Amino acid sequence: MRYDFDRVVERRNTNSIKWDFIEEIYGEKDLLPLWVADMDFQVPREVVTAIKERADHAIYGYTGRSPQLYQAIIQWLDRRHNWKIKPEWIDFTSGVVTGLNVAVQAFTKPGDKVIIQPPVYQPFKNAVENNGRQVVFNPLKMENDKYVMNFDDLADKCDSRTKMLIFCNPHNPGGRVWDKEELQQLAEICVHNDLIIVADEIHSDFVYPGHVHTPLASISQKIAERTVTCIAPNKTFNLAGLTTAAVVISNQTLRQEFAKIIENNGVKTNIFGLTAMEAAYTYGEEWLEQLLSYLKDNLDFLMEFFQTQIPQIRPIQPEGTFLVWLDCRELKLDQQHLTELFTRKAKVALNDGAWFGVGGEEFVRINIGCPRSILAEGLQRIKQAVNTL
Ligand SMILES: Cc1ncc(COP(=O)(O)O)c(C=O)c1O
Repeated sequence: MRYDFDRVVERRNTNSIKWDFIEEIYGEKDLLPLWVADMDFQVPREVVTAIKERADHAIYGYTGRSPQLYQAIIQWLDRRHNWKIKPEWIDFTSGVVTGLNVAVQAFTKPGDKVIIQPPVYQPFKNAVENNGRQVVFNPLKMENDKYVMNFDDLADKCDSRTKMLIFCNPHNPGGRVWDKEELQQLAEICVHNDLIIVADEIHSDFVYPGHVHTPLASISQKIAERTVTCIAPNKTFNLAGLTTAAVVISNQTLRQEFAKIIENNGVKTNIFGLTAMEAAYTYGEEWLEQLLSYLKDNLDFLMEFFQTQIPQIRPIQPEGTFLVWLDCRELKLDQQHLTELFTRKAKVALNDGAWFGVGGEEFVRINIGCPRSILAEGLQRIKQAVNTL
């Protein structure tokens, strides 16, 4: 079946955070939403059918996880990422962010240090600080318009209170799909310093040609033993509103500690999330392949648009994800004026780079998971606003 990603589906008046809550968040009306990481595409037909069939049963009591669901996850990770896992390694949460918080509570104590690598998805920092742990920054370095990890700094920042690294693979917002050598170097430091690694791999299914996602835990037995991997169909299949994610932990002791916190906090999943997850991982591959090709064309379109029409803003070429990190430093605007430029003048809602922490200032993030006509409209608006400077 051919999916039509060009089709614009009205999302206003569906309580969409991306479309309906802009005014509350940005204080402005009529912004074109190119921000929060969900996509303006309808999900695979088989997912809708599975949800409808489940809904038609009309009894929604407490629901467990079927063997078919476990198999769908296992086969997906094997087929797409060459990662072989066992059913007993899998647990479930109500989202990847929940998984991060559970992991912090399970494997660290109040006052312990947890490392993150900014600029990075802000809930990493929140998961550390809101649980009374200390956040330690190991900022990424930009080399030739590409983010790399600073391994010397990482090793230096490990002391006896440092217990965990929360790692983003692929990286949001930097767009890096970390390669095997980088993962190996990272793994060595984590093993040497006895760190638990929480690998947020929610963006792993979005990888552009020429790059391959490697699950951190697949690098070696040693690293698998200390890795907690969070995955979800939420980004891949646009199911964020169904709030269901999986966590893969091969180390039995860690898995039991994780499960204890899940139970203590009453973390649950819901019928429709589980149903959608199984259907997406079982039947969604054809849809995803077409989506990836569409996103690549969107990306090429955006890269060329900035190069030829708004050269003052430089997109960092992403290797994965449907998010593009825009370097606005040449505009020489402080954060407030940058926000005004995009929000008041261009009338587009983008994510403010400062939200991603250290190194995010003077950057913004744009979401290309939308029909090209919407992206083109957004880029035109940005061009016109920049031309007024
Ligand atoms: C790196 C990363 N982790 C987690 C999430 C959110 O995941 P969830 O909605 O499953 O909590 C996002 C959403 O943008 C993300 O980019």
